[in-house]
Amino acid sequence: DIDISKEYLKKINKIYIVACGTAMHAGLVGKNAIEKLCKIPTVVDIASEFRYRDPIIDDKTLCIYISQSGETADTIAALKLAKAKGAKTLAVSNVIGSSITREADYTIYTHAGPEIAVASTKAYTSQVVLMVILAMYFAEVLGSYGGIEKLKADILDLPAKVEAMLDETDAIKEFANKVYTEHDMYFLGRGTDYNVAMEGSLKLKEISYIHSEAYAAGELKHGTISLIEDGTPVVAVATQDALLKKTISNIVEVKTRGAFVMAVTNEGNTEIEKTADYVIYIPQTNAYFANSLAIIPLQLFSYYVAVGKGCDVDKPRNLAKSVTVE
Ligand code: M6R
Repeated sequence: DIDISKEYLKKINKIYIVACGTAMHAGLVGKNAIEKLCKIPTVVDIASEFRYRDPIIDDKTLCIYISQSGETADTIAALKLAKAKGAKTLAVSNVIGSSITREADYTIYTHAGPEIAVASTKAYTSQVVLMVILAMYFAEVLGSYGGIEKLKADILDLPAKVEAMLDETDAIKEFANKVYTEHDMYFLGRGTDYNVAMEGSLKLKEISYIHSEAYAAGELKHGTISLIEDGTPVVAVATQDALLKKTISNIVEVKTRGAFVMAVTNEGNTEIEKTADYVIYIPQTNAYFANSLAIIPLQLFSYYVAVGKGCDVDKPRNLAKSVTVE
């Protein structure tokens, strides 16, 4: 849908990705793909912070705005601010013709179909995939990454892998049924697994009203591990092979303090079974697309916890689908 020249991309020295809530979490995964595939420094910011902190922007900055609805007030205001400072703006939205797409210089659509429930699910998975596709497109134009064709082939396999995962939900349901009466839960991960953990934690809070926090697994010992006690539910995400051993050692740390752990990892990483109480396997894919698969067990977990508690999973209290006010 977009045509961005090599000259323009070569000139860019910084990318901002700006969004709110779930869309911001998708931006964090996008940052990783852009930095790795294109080598352009990328900063992710929350729209309601970005717009009031006088960000350093000029005509060498590309600002990307992610918004499922395309109507989020803070995200639109953050886009207008960057435009006024001379940056090019690119919107990632799910709603054709939405306000943000009318303001942006470029728009790409997630085409996920209407998302009705307040808690974002398919919008997130499609935002994550689209952000990686955008990074692949930039990398192709810049000639900065050699493995693009393999990544393209992997995209086509994703739908079948998602379907296979939706057929294997018993273990997730069982873990959810054991913990839904708890008051606090923790989500752990490293790298983009940490970003997925953040989204899993938000989903749980949003629809089950259970307090939860996501932590970069290596940061636990700097304070949070003191909160782990006998039976504390912990969801650990470990799909990034380069970080697997490190994350497993963090799972051992929380297990030693009594945590009750569900781990999400790639097929074949069976050594994690020695540590975690439940292990959910996601089908093998590359590191960039593993995020869009790893979130599915986390979304299902929140769903089963919320159902267990008798909550309305589609319309959680105090929340609106589209936040059109500040
Ligand atoms: O429509 P948007 O993507 O701009 O919405 C941003 C957030 O309000 C939204 O992602 C919110 O965090 C979701 N309800 C989370 O499930």
